[in-house]
Amino acid sequence: MPSVIPPIISQAVAILKQGGLVAMPTETVYGLGADAKNSEALEKIFQAKQRPINHPLIVHLADIAQLNEWASVISPLAQCLADAFWPGPLTLILPKANHVLDLVTGGQPSIGLRIPSHPVAQALLKAFGSGIAAPSANRFGRISPTTAAHVREELGDAVDLILEGGSCEIGLESTIVDVTRGYPVILRPGMITSTDIESVLDHAHLSLPPENIYSPVTTPRVSGSLNSHYAPQTPAKLLTTEEIFLFLKNIKINQLPLAVMAKSPGFFTQKKMQENIQYVRMPLDSHAYAHDLYKILHELDNKNYKQIIIEDVPLSTDWTAVRDRLLKASFKKILI
Ligand code: TXA
Ligand code: MG
Repeated sequence: MPSVIPPIISQAVAILKQGGLVAMPTETVYGLGADAKNSEALEKIFQAKQRPINHPLIVHLADIAQLNEWASVISPLAQCLADAFWPGPLTLILPKANHVLDLVTGGQPSIGLRIPSHPVAQALLKAFGSGIAAPSANRFGRISPTTAAHVREELGDAVDLILEGGSCEIGLESTIVDVTRGYPVILRPGMITSTDIESVLDHAHLSLPPENIYSPVTTPRVSGSLNSHYAPQTPAKLLTTEEIFLFLKNIKINQLPLAVMAKSPGFFTQKKMQENIQYVRMPLDSHAYAHDLYKILHELDNKNYKQIIIEDVPLSTDWTAVRDRLLKASFKKILI
């Protein structure tokens, strides 16, 4: 029996079919969606985000059965990762099908595809029945939105409809894996880690020796790989615990007010908390940290602090994606 389509989803489908923009929640971050086969609609994404035209977009699909329509080759490696992690926070870079527009791929022969698990994204994709191109729903270079309110704040009237889907469960963008080379290359780390990928890989899936496995390529066309991407407007610094204590000891009045995002209990048991410093207690678990990170950066960025000091996180695999975003948030300011 066909399920009933909620009126808001029917409205979103109608907007997409007319070439409009719909912001949709996914389990990673909110996306700014347009019909991936409509070049005028795709142009609106680039205008709304103020994103350079050669940066490719991820096409979102409802289910694996649609893969053949968008990718020209689905290797055993691609199939293995798709079966293991979709629907979910994984984007695969595959050889594109002939019809795919240059605006989607940035003129490259490959396409980024993802099947999100969020129920609202799933409902929209199923009802729409085709690919929805959707970058994160923020202006170029800014922090990705993890709530509908963030999207409204960032893009406002540039979007025809914002679908409400609560706070994104994961909170960081998907892991992007290039599977066009015969072995997987992680172009952008996410909460599906290299260990997770390794654990499902049968080495029979690799058509080339895995020397370079998981190593990022030097010049990928991934806007998220630009060093200054995902930055708050307030200068941010990533420092070790000791560096922060030293910095705070010698703080000058003109450096205040500021915020400190930290995990170590020492910051919260100080006898005398300095005035004009907001301490934010960050979660100890990497998943909880990822979930809260952009929300907290958004909040702090709206408070006119002179700077945001961030305590560094572990180097272990489960923290790789979080640390990648912290480095990007603090780039340019790290040497100050
Ligand atoms: O979690 C996510 O991936 C979110 C949600 C909305 O799905 N989307 C997202 O999109 O983060 P965006 O555009 O902000 O980042 C997608 C990245 C871009 O940096 C883009 O360059 C890269 O994916 N990308 C897309 N197609 C590609 C391709 N064919 N080759 C290399 N990189 C590609
Ligand atoms: Mg983005």
